[in-house]
Amino acid sequence: MAILTSPSRINILRLISLITIIFVTLPHSALSAAATYNVVSLGAKPDGKTDSTKAFVAAWAKACASPNPAVVYVPAGRFFLKNVVFGGECKNNAITFRIAGTLVAPSDYRVIGNSDYWIFFQHVNGVTISGGILDGQGTSLWDCKRSGKGNCPSGATTLGFSNSNNIKILGLTSLNSQMFNIVINGCSNVKLQGVKVSASGNSPNTDGIHVQMSTGVTILNSKIGTGDDCVSIGPGTTNLWIEDIACGPGHGISIGSLGKDLKEAGVQNVTVKTASFRNTQNGLRIKSWGRPSSGFARNILFQHAVMTNVQNPIVIDQNYCPDNKGCPGQVSGVKVSDVTYQDIHGTSATEVAVKFDCSSKYPCNNIRLQDVKLTYKNLPAQASCNHAAGTASGLVQPSSCL
Ligand SMILES: *[C@@H]1O[C@H](CO)[C@@H](O)[C@H](O)[C@H]1NC(C)=O
Repeated sequence: MAILTSPSRINILRLISLITIIFVTLPHSALSAAATYNVVSLGAKPDGKTDSTKAFVAAWAKACASPNPAVVYVPAGRFFLKNVVFGGECKNNAITFRIAGTLVAPSDYRVIGNSDYWIFFQHVNGVTISGGILDGQGTSLWDCKRSGKGNCPSGATTLGFSNSNNIKILGLTSLNSQMFNIVINGCSNVKLQGVKVSASGNSPNTDGIHVQMSTGVTILNSKIGTGDDCVSIGPGTTNLWIEDIACGPGHGISIGSLGKDLKEAGVQNVTVKTASFRNTQNGLRIKSWGRPSSGFARNILFQHAVMTNVQNPIVIDQNYCPDNKGCPGQVSGVKVSDVTYQDIHGTSATEVAVKFDCSSKYPCNNIRLQDVKLTYKNLPAQASCNHAAGTASGLVQPSSCL
């Protein structure tokens, strides 16, 4: 403040040039010091069919062994890759995958369909993925799953990070993933920005971004269209920030399913700010199994959301029990509290636009609705409450059942 209140022009100019020098020269010097490993120099072929897995592993090994910041560079072209693990610990904590091209998974799902991940990072610190397209080639696996004949592998998640810190995923596109697109599990300080996910609206289990057992994850400015949740938030997620998301098709932004296990870490401090949902199954959802659990979801803020033709714009469902297996006659142990819905408006595709179906043993408490306006066929929609308590303020339509 002293600088602002008693400045001389010169001081301000000096300050500006100093800041400019810091911001312009620092990244440059960091980059020029970085060793670059081009996968093509290590044998990868941009022809979309030659197996380039070994070249990628070799580039990673060199980057990881470098004492200085390192870049793995993937030039333009299509690179065929089987499942691959990029593991730490590394000798430096600044490795960037700069991807100009497309990585292509095997289209025959028998090749990687039984692996948990196609591209998997574990025990890494300070990895950035910048740009690139990941083509999961999942359509034949989706067809297999949808045919109902059974005998389909569950499929590989396209990109996973596990037990890792200080991760950035910037401007990445994930297409036609076999299973989940991106999974962040057991990580801290992760930023995803400008991510695009695209899979068919009827592709099974193709969640866009799944976060669990992680803290300090930020998802910004991303566009997700898929056959399952756009973002799914699993047990043990804390301090999650989601902002500027376009979702659809898909199942919305979902906390859960929680409470599958008896002993389970809770979800805490989640903000979803400025999101749009178009033709999705859900908008903002909290979902738990209807069975005993130590889990919880609390301190959740849903703010500034626009719904367009969404089946369940606002929903808490604590009675999830697919095929009535493992939970009949039981109620959810997951405690849901301190959930705020603020400035949520748009259109519902069903009459009930706000549905709070909570646990009879642990009713939802301190649910807050502020300035919510949802219509169904140009009329106010309906709200339905079961074991839910809280407050409504501002204009709330459908009128609150809390
Ligand atoms: C909640 O999470 C945000 C990041 O999303 C963080 O900045 C903030 O400090 C957290 N609040 C608490 C009380 O931990």
